[in-house]
Amino acid sequence: MTPAERAVAGFLETYGTAPCITAVAPGRVNLIGEHTDYQGGLVLPVAADLRTAVAAGPAGGGIVKACSGLFPDPVSFDPGSLSPGNPIEGWGRYVAGIAWALYSSGMAVPGADIYIESDIPPGSGLSSSAALEVAVGMALSAMAGSVSWDESSLRSLAGFCQLGENEYCGVPCGSMDHLAACLGVSGSALLLDCRTLEASPVPIPGDLSIVVCDSGERHDLSTAGYPGRQAEAAAALASLGTRRPEVQSLRDAVPEDLVILEEALAAAGAPASEAVRLVGRARHIIEENRRVRLAAEALGRGDGASMGRLMRESHDSLRDLYGVSTPGLDALVEAAMALPGCFGARLTGGGFGGSVVCLVETGGVEGFLAAMSAFLPGGARLVRPSGGAAIERIG
Ligand code: GLA
Repeated sequence: MTPAERAVAGFLETYGTAPCITAVAPGRVNLIGEHTDYQGGLVLPVAADLRTAVAAGPAGGGIVKACSGLFPDPVSFDPGSLSPGNPIEGWGRYVAGIAWALYSSGMAVPGADIYIESDIPPGSGLSSSAALEVAVGMALSAMAGSVSWDESSLRSLAGFCQLGENEYCGVPCGSMDHLAACLGVSGSALLLDCRTLEASPVPIPGDLSIVVCDSGERHDLSTAGYPGRQAEAAAALASLGTRRPEVQSLRDAVPEDLVILEEALAAAGAPASEAVRLVGRARHIIEENRRVRLAAEALGRGDGASMGRLMRESHDSLRDLYGVSTPGLDALVEAAMALPGCFGARLTGGGFGGSVVCLVETGGVEGFLAAMSAFLPGGARLVRPSGGAAIERIG
């Protein structure tokens, strides 16, 4: 059964009636462009054929109640009384976060019964939380009134989801995950400019396949590592800004700025180890943005070898300069790269655990999957680039 079918069945069993709407949103696999989104940079994700489905129906009393086959305890809240200072704990905070963001924008969020199902393993670096927020946001918006889901309304839904996650849930994520979940295009990667929020589909040739390998190491963006990297990127930008005020985000920085940053840090008396770290963080972001541009071009001309090389360089940079890899992720990348037909592999998502994405020749992908599954606790799976969030079934 698909997640949507399971969500409808769960809804029927839990609430004793049929849902009026079912919204579905995909997880994402980022091919390249990591830790660039929160500095206004470039990313190249695909929306995956792993989905979260939310079945919803009206409920009296203005209360939103959510249950799920995935989590033990139901959550319920009055959208008007949610407060970021006192968020709901556990999985329910993502449901509450998007409800809070929509309510704060002036939407009359209706009372609703909700049932959630998903194929996206939580904590695997495939943005299960973004998919949950987008699917809940789409269902609540649709119940609040008629919405025609075009690129502009999807883009603003992505914005509300990010706002809810940042402000209500206290997770300082960037814009990539929600944009990918909302704007995904079947058969394509999305070149996203996280400054302008412009999205350009890049078709993936049939002879290239995407495989995701779950390291089994769970990651959590609210723990120290991820916010710490954001803070370091911001500190590097602030230091560079003392000499180059026109640089508004590291997206605007060029390789020559690294020397200027080094001088600015030395002049400010930064300890050598901190200077090396901050220059490394900035170098990763500057070079990663360049790699994304080159990767989109390589993919566009079907050049798997160049694309794979860039993915491998990205992983090395995330390991050595950005410090977000783990020995487990490094071992998976090495194992994948040693197999025939693998053009490139890298950690995908925020790092500190989660998954590795591999670009593999389609002709050899079955053998690749078998070899990686034998090596892995969490398994390896083929990912088909899919469309973005949608209302799957009404009534
Ligand atoms: C997480 C965040 C994204 C992005 C990536 C790293 O997935 O949610 O916004 O910053 O990490 O590229």
